[in-house]
Amino acid sequence: MNDSIQHRRSIRKFSSKPIEPEKLQRVLEAGRLAPSGNNKQPWVFIVVQSEQQRQAVMEASHNQSWMMSAPTFIVAVADIAERAEVEPGLYLDENSPHWELKRAIRDTAIAAGNMLLAADGLGLGTCWVGFFVQSEIRPVLGIPDDKFVLGVIPIGYPAEQPPARPRKALAEIVRYERWGGIPM
Ligand SMILES: Cc1cc2nc3c(=O)[nH]c(=O)nc-3n(C[C@H](O)[C@H](O)[C@H](O)COP(=O)(O)O)c2cc1C
Repeated sequence: MNDSIQHRRSIRKFSSKPIEPEKLQRVLEAGRLAPSGNNKQPWVFIVVQSEQQRQAVMEASHNQSWMMSAPTFIVAVADIAERAEVEPGLYLDENSPHWELKRAIRDTAIAAGNMLLAADGLGLGTCWVGFFVQSEIRPVLGIPDDKFVLGVIPIGYPAEQPPARPRKALAEIVRYERWGGIPM
């Protein structure tokens, strides 16, 4: 099994050491190479490094102040325009029912997951931050109303080594042949 799948942890304390540009490039590359439905690649990654922009993104993320110790944020944005005609004036948010939005979010989540794992493999730490609302975070980054911010990923060299957080046992989540089938 890929070591990073087992080794990765959410990191919420970072050292001040900046990320080498080549490493950041490799993390972004891991996102670029993700699979997506119909290979539509409906994602955009915004790299945020300035103190001012990180501060604004952090505040829009319900003031999770720990985020500021990371030198860089990668904001993963799902763009349904890559999947479908976008009606003029479309406004997406947490209540939007659009099936194409769900697909774009699904695909962008795979890309973001790839980046978390790639970062770990390069000795970097990350934490997916999803605690924000579209109406507050989009304006901070100048993101149009028809895009959906999926996650903010603070990334940098870890300054903590948290233990593995608990997971359900396979026996709880695996069944054979059908929903009500024999558990593992
Ligand atoms: C979609 C998503 C949203 C999350 N949002 C936050 C967040 O806003 N703040 C935070 O501190 N952690 C956040 N996390 C991290 C989770 O708390 C963490 O992944 C979980 O507790 C398991 O810990 P681990 O990643 O170390 O295995 C989020 C994770 C995911 C996948």
